[in-house]
Amino acid sequence: MTGSDSAVIPQDEVLAPARPVSDRGGHRFVILLANAKGGCGKTTLSTSLASYYAGRGCDVTLLDLDPQQSATQWCRQRKDSGNDDIRLISIPLDGRFHAGKLQGPLREAGDLLIIDSPAGLNGTALDALLNIARVVLVPVLPSPIDIRAATRFMQSVMLSPANRRRPKRLAVIANRARERTRMYGKLELFLHSLKIPFLTTLRDTQLYVRAAGEGCGVLDLQEADQQDRDAWRTIIEWLEIQRHLTRTLPGL
Ligand SMILES: Nc1ncnc2c1ncn2[C@@H]1O[C@H](COP(=O)(O)OP(=O)(O)O)[C@@H](O)[C@H]1O
Ligand SMILES: [Mg+2]
Repeated sequence: MTGSDSAVIPQDEVLAPARPVSDRGGHRFVILLANAKGGCGKTTLSTSLASYYAGRGCDVTLLDLDPQQSATQWCRQRKDSGNDDIRLISIPLDGRFHAGKLQGPLREAGDLLIIDSPAGLNGTALDALLNIARVVLVPVLPSPIDIRAATRFMQSVMLSPANRRRPKRLAVIANRARERTRMYGKLELFLHSLKIPFLTTLRDTQLYVRAAGEGCGVLDLQEADQQDRDAWRTIIEWLEIQRHLTRTLPGL
């Protein structure tokens, strides 16, 4: 399989039984999971995405920047369960963090680098990550405080020097929400004005807690229902479109 014909997982392959997909074109795709707030689902999304792509044969690296190291624990649990298919790099982000620390992970990473970031990400650390990320996924919980924090966070992304140099593809995911429209009304207006997509809503279910403990993704659990699969299909399809654009229009 060549780099060009393997760039995108075709639509009918999304969430279909595994078929190895390799990306040898040299265009590493970097996904940053970020939001200023803790507990909104950054690690849940990072690990579920890592599991999804690894399960389809992608060369996945998970970079855990959170001093709490939840993604690292998830990865260890995954290894203990016999799945050693994700390259883990842990660099707890602290006051001594500088952009140079990302060079090692970038060199080591294969096709896909997924970055799980800590709460409170801002300033030079945010800028350094935006410099290497192609897309930024922002999970948001359905509370006014979380929605305000997410709005401020996206403003700081839009205003960051890295984003001005090369605009990022941003998208928002409503997490643990029963119904999106009412609570998220203001956020939707804000996103609409900036043309940022509101991708989907992930329901509130203990399956995510279970997947976190078992070192797998929620879709690896048989109990995941159609709503879960549809929501993840939307996320993966959007990511695959961005990945395709990265390869075909690298300067975009
Ligand atoms: N959709 C969901 N339904 C139920 N629990 C969830 C969901 N998403 C995340 N969680 C749980 O919420 C907690 C915080 O999520 P986490 O991904 O660790 O947030 P963050 O990394 O942003 O701090 C974790 O215990 C996680 O298992
Ligand atoms: Mg986390």
